[in-house]
Amino acid sequence: MIQTSGLTRHFTVKKQTVKAVRGLDLQVEEGELVALLGPNGAGKSTTLRMLTTLIPPTSGTAAVAGYDVVVQQREVRRVIGYIGQGNGAAHSQRGRDELVSQGRAYGMSVRESRARAAELIASLDLAAVADRPVSSLSGGQKRRLDIAMGLIHAPRLLFLDEPSTGLDPQNRANLQEHILKLRAEHGTTIVLTTHYLDEADAMAERVIVIDHGTVIADDTPARLKAEHAGDLITLGFASASDAARAAARLDALAGAAVTAAGATVEVRVAGGSRLVPGIIRDLDAAGIAVESTAVNRPTLDDVFLNLTGRSLREGAVGNSGTDTVTAEEVAA
Ligand SMILES: Nc1ncnc2c1ncn2[C@@H]1O[C@H](COP(=O)(O)OP(=O)(O)OP(=O)(O)O)[C@@H](O)[C@H]1O
Ligand SMILES: [Mg+2]
Repeated sequence: MIQTSGLTRHFTVKKQTVKAVRGLDLQVEEGELVALLGPNGAGKSTTLRMLTTLIPPTSGTAAVAGYDVVVQQREVRRVIGYIGQGNGAAHSQRGRDELVSQGRAYGMSVRESRARAAELIASLDLAAVADRPVSSLSGGQKRRLDIAMGLIHAPRLLFLDEPSTGLDPQNRANLQEHILKLRAEHGTTIVLTTHYLDEADAMAERVIVIDHGTVIADDTPARLKAEHAGDLITLGFASASDAARAAARLDALAGAAVTAAGATVEVRVAGGSRLVPGIIRDLDAAGIAVESTAVNRPTLDDVFLNLTGRSLREGAVGNSGTDTVTAEEVAA
């Protein structure tokens, strides 16, 4: 469904070159649900904007549903839906009318457009506001309307740039459910970007981690976690001196990263839960009593930290980009 080779995009800002995307090789099969995960400025939106024909690549190639994104833009646009990052409509039209016009623009009949609009209004929880002017909606309500707009023609391939940013937990859950349902019913291929690691984990069968415009990992969430982050064992002791002695002993454990803070010791190690009984016995034999234990399974956050040395959350702020395409971008 998507195939890119050496996909690259540079921007020139005040004579400085920003290498937003650097030689991406991506492959997405029909029916897959893939999450692009990365911090602010990683190049996620720029990648989606090239794949949706909004901006041309500086070099490299990309094909969507077999069509070249540069020379077959019209064909590409026909098969895709795109919900940009923070492209909220702000006019006096009513949401429902916007949806129907959008359906008509995709060649659907009035009846079909109305039926589809009603279905999306219900499933995205927009019933109470769909007949008000769009300009009067809250940020989260507008976001849900954006998403309904992108879904109106039930596209074969849907691009969602940070679909849940700005939504409250309830609406995030509704949206995730809607996306998964769309996929189950229509076999839609979905590529989304997100800062929410739990979202990538819960929804995507493949996570592509992007940093500084390149792919740094591409795998299932389960394999990424197994490979890049061990379990975290937290041991509690009666005193800081017990903790320090325990940490010194645990340092000998193969493949483990040990840190002591106050009366607790954290051990990051693969297969942690199986090791806990042995650790407790060993410390006990050395006269150090373990007062509490907890084992936490790794998250994608840990994976990102492990891959880059940085936390994804530090950069996780909401909608920063816009989707206005400037003349110089198109020319670049
Ligand atoms: N129109 C533009 N002109 C100049 N630089 C740009 C433009 N669009 C993006 N960039 C730069 O390209 C890099 C990648 O930006 P991009 O928007 O693709 O990141 P992102 O991964 O979507 O980040 P976020 O999580 O904040 O949305 C950034 O350094 C950004 O400043
Ligand atoms: Mg972005």
